[in-house]
Amino acid sequence: MDNNDLIRIENLTRVYKVGETQVRALSGISYRVQQGDLLAIMGPSGSGKSTLMNIIGCLDKPTEGKYYLEGEEVSTLDKNKLARIRNKKIGFVFQTFNLLSRTTALENTELPLLYSNIPRKKTRDLAYKALSVVGLEGRELHRTNQLSGGEQQRVAIARALVNSPSLLLADEPTGNLDTKTGAEIMDIFKNLNQEKNITIILVTHDPDVSKIAHKKIYLRDGKIIKEERE
Ligand SMILES: Nc1ncnc2c1ncn2[C@@H]1O[C@H](COP(=O)(O)OP(=O)(O)OP(=O)(O)O)[C@@H](O)[C@H]1O
Ligand SMILES: [Mg+2]
Repeated sequence: MDNNDLIRIENLTRVYKVGETQVRALSGISYRVQQGDLLAIMGPSGSGKSTLMNIIGCLDKPTEGKYYLEGEEVSTLDKNKLARIRNKKIGFVFQTFNLLSRTTALENTELPLLYSNIPRKKTRDLAYKALSVVGLEGRELHRTNQLSGGEQQRVAIARALVNSPSLLLADEPTGNLDTKTGAEIMDIFKNLNQEKNITIILVTHDPDVSKIAHKKIYLRDGKIIKEERE
């Protein structure tokens, strides 16, 4: 195995069972992601993009196939072990921001660290630092409802970054933003990738958004139908 592989997935399949019916959301996906990659996952609605992201993010497990993260097979781990890996290695950004309401930007950002053994003063400092990375100095004590959509997504990115993950996952991160604000959010991702060498995987429908990616995969019916790399 190439030591540079951050992610290696082999023949991944995910079948959802709903009552008597089975939905084959992923069907034999194999792919590798290297440290420092910026990968865009594209494809029509229902093609399996979020399903794949959930497995990569250790929120879900494949029905069949293998998933190695930093060389460790995670497809067989139990829920607790997956949660630990998730908390240590992976940051998430969602389309709908998923922030706590009536809670400050600082507290939202600090949240992932409250499960760690890091002393409170240090978690505060780290949260301030993450918020400054996304350009939110001066907004730290604003509550979620006192921030614009773009600012809320910046808080979500700061929260995803605060425990220095090796992998940042974003599912339609600009889906709820106007074009200009979306472009600003994409600039943040691009900088994080180029300057901090953070590996980023993002799901998008938008060809403009996927322009920043140097690798792309296109899904259809749970399969990779096209791969592109620069
Ligand atoms: N929890 C679930 N239970 C049953 N079926 C599911 C579940 N989640 C997704 N599916 C089905 O699996 C398929 C892939 O869904 P998925 O959410 O991965 O698509 P997607 O590419 O992210 O679509 P979108 O662009 O609309 O977000 C769809 O047919 C969907 O109906
Ligand atoms: Mg989706």
